Parts: sequence; C-alpha cells; structure tokens
Amino acid sequence: MAINLLNTADKKRFPANRKLLIDRTKALLTFLGKQQQDLSIVLMDDTEMARYNSEFRHKKGPTNVLSFPATELYTDLPPQLISNQLGDILISVETAWVESKKKQCSLHYRICELIIHGTLHLLGYDHEQSTQEALIMWEKEHQLIKNIMRRRKTMPYLAINVDHVATIREARGTIEPDPVHAAAACELAGADGIVIHLREDRRHIQDRDVYLLRKTVKTRLNLEMAATKEIIDIALEVRPDMITLVPEKREELTTEGGLDVAGNEKKLRKTIHKMTKASIPVSLFIDPDAVQIESALEVGATFVELHTGRYCDARDEQEQEIEFHLIEQAAELAFESGLKVNAGHGLDYRTTARVAALPTIHELSIGHAIISRAVYVGVDQAVREMRDCILMAG
Ligand code: PXP
Repeated sequence: MAINLLNTADKKRFPANRKLLIDRTKALLTFLGKQQQDLSIVLMDDTEMARYNSEFRHKKGPTNVLSFPATELYTDLPPQLISNQLGDILISVETAWVESKKKQCSLHYRICELIIHGTLHLLGYDHEQSTQEALIMWEKEHQLIKNIMRRRKTMPYLAINVDHVATIREARGTIEPDPVHAAAACELAGADGIVIHLREDRRHIQDRDVYLLRKTVKTRLNLEMAATKEIIDIALEVRPDMITLVPEKREELTTEGGLDVAGNEKKLRKTIHKMTKASIPVSLFIDPDAVQIESALEVGATFVELHTGRYCDARDEQEQEIEFHLIEQAAELAFESGLKVNAGHGLDYRTTARVAALPTIHELSIGHAIISRAVYVGVDQAVREMRDCILMAG
C-alpha cells in the first residue's frame, strides 16, 4: 500500500502532520480490506480547490473534498495497469479548518473525516443520487470514524497536585496543613490521582510526605521530579504509580517551561530505562511542540504532559486561541503517535473545560486553582466544582 500525500497549501497557516494523516489512511484502507491499493491525497487551499471544483464539477467556489477514481483519471491505460490504484482525493485544508472550528474538533480530525468520505466515494458509495444510498454511505462513514479514530469515551481523569498545601505548612515550619490529609480529602471528593513534586530544594513537599502518601493514596500517585540522581533513587525506592519528569530551576516560583527532551535525549533515555525496569511509567512535561513529541517517543516515554501555562496566561482572546490551537495539535499528534497525553499547569475554573473537551487528553494535572478555591469553600467543594467543569466539557 502506498499513500502519496502532497500538501500544496500554506503549511504555516494550516499545519497538517504528514505522518499522522498517512498512518490514519493506512489504517482506513486496512480496515476496508484495501491494503493492496494505492491512494493519492492532495491538500490544497480554497483558491486551488475552487479551480478544480469549477473545472470538473462546474460549480462556483471551493468545496471540502473531491474524489477522482483511478478508472476516470487514467482512461487511456489498460485496467490491469491501474488495478492497484484507488484514485485521488483532493481536500481543501482551508475549508476543513473552518469546518473544524464549527465542529469543535481538531484540523486533523476533520481532514481524516474528509479522507474517509473521499475514500468511500472512490469505492462507489454515493449520497447524491438517492436517500437510500445516502443513508448507506452515512452509516458506513460513521462506522469508519468510530473505528479509525478511536477516542476517549469518558471524561479525562483529574489528578490533583497538593504541593501548595505543603507550601503553607512550610511557611510556618509546622505540621499543618498536611498534604497527606489534603490528598485523602481530594480523593474522597472524586480526584483520580494525586500529584506531588519533590523538589531538590524541598521547598514544599518533604521526603516524609512522599513515603507517607505512597502508603495512603488509594488512587494513583504521580511523583513530579527532576532527573537527578538523588530524586531518581527516592523514586525507585518509593515506587509511585508514575513519575513526571520536569525541568527544575532553583530560582523559579513554579515549573516555568517544558523539558528540552530533544537536547537531553541521552540523560532522559537512561532515566526512563531505569524506571521502566522498575515498572514505573514515565511522563515528560513538554511544551506543545512536535519536535519534543518526536523526541519523547524516541527516548521511550509512555506519557507526555503538555504544558498549558501559555494558554492559561494568554493576555487576550487571540493569543489564547493560538496557544490553544498548539495544545490541540500537539495532543492529536502525540495521541496518534501512541503516547498517552496529559495536560497541566495554570489550569483554572475558566480555562480547564476547553482542554478537557479534547478527546485525546487522558488526564489533567491541576493544583494551584483547586487549592486556592479550597481556602474559601473547602477541599471537597473545590474538587467537585473542578470535576463539574471537566464533566460539562465532555
Ligand atoms: N504539571 C506540572 C508538570 C507542574 O509542574 C505543575 C505545577 O506544580 C502542575 C501541573 C500544576 O500546575 P498548577 O498548580 O498551576 O495547576
């Protein structure tokens, strides 16, 4: 099976991931039992699509997808020479982009829907001649979308970071409030996991918290940490349910940016190897960036956690839109590459729903907003309100 994919559109305006689309199309043809067939896909802008639409369908303006069966394209060739060719599918990424906004799905998701639609046309399905045929095509299309683009069916998990409870305790150097108690309260209110960051300077979470939480957490304990020898040794001894590797600077107030996985492949691969041997899955906290995702795969991570900080801190709607789009694209790419995708940092009661609605997100890691709200309404209500935000988004 050969999938030829050509993108003639402006790649900066409409960033389409080649590998992802080719892999999806291969999965589609395999599902349809057409794995011996070749298919060409051309992505273009509205202007070019309008040209094809006018020339071949005598219609004005662009459309989203056009299909040309090989038998119509190569009428001068003997059928046996083109028996392994399905044909060409033309897609306007510009129209797909607009449609993806309306449907609130990612650009890739919409393009894949159009590839499915176009492929069905190449196989003889039609929706213009009769209602009965249209219904058959519609049903097939939905069956394929369901099978090829498998997504999370339930709400994403909510993991709660209790570092800030420890921050208040450390401000007085006493024993209260206790992050161990807070973690239990979060779990009782419906948290799916507890996150703690054991920093090298021990500014909030202490070793005692880590060891105790390992014993008390009933859901899943995620230990955030830098890849340093001291903390790696503690993680191997404590055996959390997973670890999240983050960059750590002593002078920062909180984790500032994602890991440079690409620039630290050797060190990260070694750490991941040690954790894998101990059956501890590793997540890498990264910016929503394709290069970092590829590197995360290279070094053997199971999860990536996408940094949502810039989306949450955006100064205006336009900036927020751009940052959200980066998260959406990165989540799609990571998910399609076989990584599990978490997201977190800076998420609050206003910004969480949109990220939670992405069907590629496995878990959200939220701390500051929930602990801050808990000061006024209590841990139980603060957690339940956040769960409601996530639930309503789905
Ligand atoms: N994810 C990571 C990797 C973090 O470092 C933090 C902050 O500790 C969070 C998520 C949670 O961020 P926030 O406290 O802003 O919700």
